[in-house]
Amino acid sequence: MQKSIVKIGLCNPKSPENVGSVMRAAANYRVDSVFYTGERYLRAMQSRVGSTDTSRRIGKNVPLNAEQNLIDIAVEGTKIVCIELVEGAIPLPEFQHPKNALYIFGPEDGSISQAIIDKADAVVYIPTIGCMNLAATVNVLLYDRLAKGDSNFASDDLIRKSRDNNNSLIVSSI
Ligand SMILES: C[S@@+](CC[C@H](N)C(=O)[O-])C[C@H]1O[C@@H](n2cnc3c(N)ncnc32)[C@H](O)[C@@H]1O
Repeated sequence: MQKSIVKIGLCNPKSPENVGSVMRAAANYRVDSVFYTGERYLRAMQSRVGSTDTSRRIGKNVPLNAEQNLIDIAVEGTKIVCIELVEGAIPLPEFQHPKNALYIFGPEDGSISQAIIDKADAVVYIPTIGCMNLAATVNVLLYDRLAKGDSNFASDDLIRKSRDNNNSLIVSSI
C-alpha cells in the first residue's frame, strides 16, 4: 500500500518559537513537510534563532520551506484541510482524515484568510473553550489523525527509541 502524505501549511507564522514548536510536532507525528507563507518568520530568524525546539534531534529531519501560496502545495490527490474556528466547520471528533492531506493553520495573532477557507476541501475546528495556541492545535490535530489511523506504531521498542537516554522506566506491576 502507498504511504500517505501529510503536509502542514502555516499562514504567515508570527515567530520562530511558533515554527519551532510546530516542527517538533511535525517530527513527532511523522509529517512529511512543513510550508509557511509571509516574511515574519524569516525576518525574525535573521536576528535570532528559535529556542523552542530544544531537542538536538527532533524536527531537524522534516523539510521547512517558504511558499508564496499554500494552495499550490496541494498536488493532485491531496485534500486541503483548514484548521480554524470557522462557522459551519466540522468538529474534529467527527472528522475523517483524508489519506493525503495538507493541513493549513492560521498565525498566532490572526486567522486563515477567507480566500483560503473558500478553496478548502474541508474546514475543521476543535471544540475548545477559547482558541489554543498554534502548536497546541497542530499537536491535537496530528494526534487525532494518529488515533484514527490504521497504522499500528505502538510498541515498547518505539518507547525505547523515543525517550531520553536516562529514562529506563518500566511498568513492573499493575
Ligand atoms: C491562537 S490561534 C489565532 C486566533 C484564532 N484564529 C481565532 O479566531 O480565535 C492560532 C491558530 O491555531 C488554530 N486554532 C486554535 N484554536 C483552534 C480551535 N479550537 N479549532 C481550530 N483551530 C484552532 C487556528 O489555525 C488559528 O489560526
